[in-house]
Amino acid sequence: MELPEPPSRRKATSQEPEKEIASGTNTLVVGPYLSRSAKRYQSSIKTGGNSPLKGDVDENSRPPESRLEEASGLAAAIDLTIISSQLVTLQAIRPSTYIGKGKLEEFGEFIQEHEIGLIVMDCALSPIQQRNLERAWKAKVIDRTGLILEIFGRRARTKEGTLQVELAHLNYQKGRLVRAWTHLERQRGGFGFLGGPGETQMEADRRMIQERMNRIERDLETVVKTRTLHRTKRKRVPYPVVALVGYTNAGKSTLFNRLTKADVLAEDMLFATLDPTTRAVKLPHGNQVILSDTVGFISDLPTTLVAAFRATLEDVVEANILLHVRDISHIESEAQAEDVESVLAELGITGESGHKIIEVWNKADLLSESDRVLFSGKFIDRRIKKHIPVLTSALTGEGLDELYDAIEGLISENRQVFSIEVSPEKGWDIAWLYENSEVLDRRNNPETGITYLVVRAPKEKADHILKLFPQASLR
Ligand code: GTP
Repeated sequence: MELPEPPSRRKATSQEPEKEIASGTNTLVVGPYLSRSAKRYQSSIKTGGNSPLKGDVDENSRPPESRLEEASGLAAAIDLTIISSQLVTLQAIRPSTYIGKGKLEEFGEFIQEHEIGLIVMDCALSPIQQRNLERAWKAKVIDRTGLILEIFGRRARTKEGTLQVELAHLNYQKGRLVRAWTHLERQRGGFGFLGGPGETQMEADRRMIQERMNRIERDLETVVKTRTLHRTKRKRVPYPVVALVGYTNAGKSTLFNRLTKADVLAEDMLFATLDPTTRAVKLPHGNQVILSDTVGFISDLPTTLVAAFRATLEDVVEANILLHVRDISHIESEAQAEDVESVLAELGITGESGHKIIEVWNKADLLSESDRVLFSGKFIDRRIKKHIPVLTSALTGEGLDELYDAIEGLISENRQVFSIEVSPEKGWDIAWLYENSEVLDRRNNPETGITYLVVRAPKEKADHILKLFPQASLR
């Protein structure tokens, strides 16, 4: 299994997104959000070049303050030094610079004064807008997609993760290239070996990017094949898979570490987990499970990135039980949970799809006494929540016993325990039992040659067990 490298030793990808952004860069985070009335107007017309792009944060209904706070959190996750975070309420999006002239100048002075090297615009900028802002402010500007790509680029740990980030970034670059160069195309001299005579700079750049993308896609195919092979091998292990999912920074990795005592990277950073990490865990009552940690979800993940990262979530789709970890102390906890649920629904995972979901209300230690009573489960109406959530603190270990109980409860719901006597001539069928069930106990009678087994198996294996061993009895 690939172990995560500490951040300092992590290798750079060949084309790491926004590579020149150094840790500690003085950064200004700008939240340029449309006013409520402007949003209403925008959604009523929804035409013309200025309507928000798909995935633009302006489709977001959260309070602007928490959107800005989240964007600053994302920027801090890659060690940028946030000098200031500024809200800008827009009546309309300006095609050339996104924000209005007054704000442009005001920020220009601020940027000079505080030696800001990077401005993060929490919106979807067009290539032209990005270039105009960079010219006006004489500093680097990135938008939300650029920022998320940067975070993903730094967090990718496995080969597949790294390749996927690079692919997503090249795709992003390719899109920008087309639009950015539309009016700026220039003729290349026609050296022949670089491209056909008369090939424009833009075409050559696009071709190079496309070639690189094709190569990555081929590499990815190989990597995915290997991973599928591993997964098929793992599937043969008859243990239920439990996947941790949840909003970024909810405490998944900390909980994963608690449950596995493994040293998976946990940091007070958003997106500390990019690739699923998997470990076998023995629960207190003897059930063995495969525990899988996954990448954190985030609101407004650009559609192109959702597609690119879907593969990293494949383990989630195949999991038997999902632990939806929530930071219950967070003011936006409910909205975050809705985001996670809607991404899961896109992957076909709902309460109705047969997936078993346990809500883990984490960071209980940060709750006030009154909230703690309110959230402790006693007052939660079963008619509203199908599963009573489990209140935990991955930090202090509170609530872990209840969590183990909840997991084991769900496992036994779907598993049956059989007592089986195997006569000597059927000895070869024991191998099948080892491959397809958990063997809890095994005794041999040396005189008769009979083997007594106690096994636990998923319900769907029950028929086969009874076919092989008609005298098997349920315990
Ligand atoms: P991503 O990988 O970004 O999706 O984050 P994550 O969900 O894996 O969160 P992680 O485990 O990295 O935790 C984020 C921060 O929350 C860290 O600083 C943890 O120490 C902290 N944290 C996690 N669980 C708890 C908890 O129960 N209580 C408190 N107070 N802090 C917690």
